[in-house]
Amino acid sequence: MLRIAVLISGGGSNLKSLIESQDNNYYKIDVVIADRKCGGLNIAENAGIKAVLIDRKLYKDELFKKIDEELSNIDLVVLAGFLSIVDSNFIAKWANKIINIHPSLLPKFGGKGMYGIHVHEAVIANKEKESGCTVHYVTDTIDGGDIIMQARVEVKEDDTPEILQKRVLVEEHKLLPATVKKLSQAV
Ligand code: GRF
Repeated sequence: MLRIAVLISGGGSNLKSLIESQDNNYYKIDVVIADRKCGGLNIAENAGIKAVLIDRKLYKDELFKKIDEELSNIDLVVLAGFLSIVDSNFIAKWANKIINIHPSLLPKFGGKGMYGIHVHEAVIANKEKESGCTVHYVTDTIDGGDIIMQARVEVKEDDTPEILQKRVLVEEHKLLPATVKKLSQAV
């Protein structure tokens, strides 16, 4: 059983999908950490999971040192809509133990500035026929670590970025728990 920490910055719908799939022998969410006040903290608390706010504006350069202090006996750190750029000391310490979900088919539409609705705007502007989501290892190259799993969706002619975002999100909610389960079977 993998003991995981989930790092969030937003609404926490991917966190919710991890909680809903937690009823198994694959993984257990030990702690949820947010770098800002956000809806995902309430989702964790309502599920009876330890929820910690470590405000990025308060801790600045110490943010990842503080986060690290919350991670005892953790096997895997899952970034689920976490918006702070991960510090390289933290990445080195947790090498191959941090994963992230990104709402595009990496290596396309990743990197700096490619988050949230911007990703889907770029996919549509580029007239892509398909998009999707990717779970990958976190390295010092933003969205550039090895890909673990992907899911694909069609991009329809009359899609708006918001409609496409919703379609991709449905797949994210299946892909993230599936990836954590897969990794738990590899240890
Ligand atoms: C998701 O699209 C995820 O891929 C991206 O940020 C969004 C987070 O959504 N990294 P939520 O907070 O899980 O609802």
